[in-house]
Amino acid sequence: MFDLEKLQKLSIVNLIEHHVQLSSTNDRAKELALADTTLPTLVLAEEQTAGRGRGSNRWQSQGKQLTFSLLLDPAAFDLTTDQIPTLSITSALALCLAIESTLRLEPQIKWPNDVYLNDKKLAGILLEAPKPNRLIIGVGVNLDWSPKESTIKGIALSEVATEENVANSLLVAFLEQVEQLLGKLALKPKEVAAQWNDRSYLTGKRVTVESGNKELKGLCGGLGSQGELLIKTEDEFLSMTSGTVITVEASRT
Ligand code: BTN
Repeated sequence: MFDLEKLQKLSIVNLIEHHVQLSSTNDRAKELALADTTLPTLVLAEEQTAGRGRGSNRWQSQGKQLTFSLLLDPAAFDLTTDQIPTLSITSALALCLAIESTLRLEPQIKWPNDVYLNDKKLAGILLEAPKPNRLIIGVGVNLDWSPKESTIKGIALSEVATEENVANSLLVAFLEQVEQLLGKLALKPKEVAAQWNDRSYLTGKRVTVESGNKELKGLCGGLGSQGELLIKTEDEFLSMTSGTVITVEASRT
């Protein structure tokens, strides 16, 4: 599935670990981070047996998926610590741009860390910081299988794209986009924020967001400069830095 020689030539990758089967690429990247491995390191798995999603969610796998984790030091890209929270949405943007250029599709970013296509979940991103100056960007893309019975409807690339063996070209395009976007985020953060907003799935929709023990309902006004979700409820404007979107409806107005 992967052309390791081509991947190794990309400047954003210094070390690649390729596994036929692994519990979770994020868990392996965490072990490598704690062992002070060379950076950036890419951990790739043809199959994961215990993939993880946000919180206590599992990332299910019953068919082909592109699953990998990129371990890097944000400071090496001149990013400041206050920019770290924006890296989840920036990674989702990188994945959208990679899918656009490789497959000519128009995916969208569903705050805070999903990529949607045709109103369904195509990919998920899990960012973890195992220790200071180490960030893991874990990415899972449905290639020929997606969960159908879950409350969140899934979609796989094979349902919409005719191209075969897209995993390698998609991965190469993603890594190139990450390198470019991290550089741009350091120099021109507003331009990157405009790019998130252009592809925001929730903008203009009515949403219910669960945050802590509260449920908030309102109209999504887009994403803020820190990647936060902007919501207009009945009586206030809110800027949410974390939460889970539990319902989405097209706006009635
Ligand atoms: C989510 O949808 O909540 C995020 C899913 C992230 C899944 C990817 S697959 C590669 C990497 N390894 C993991 O265990 N999880 C991420």
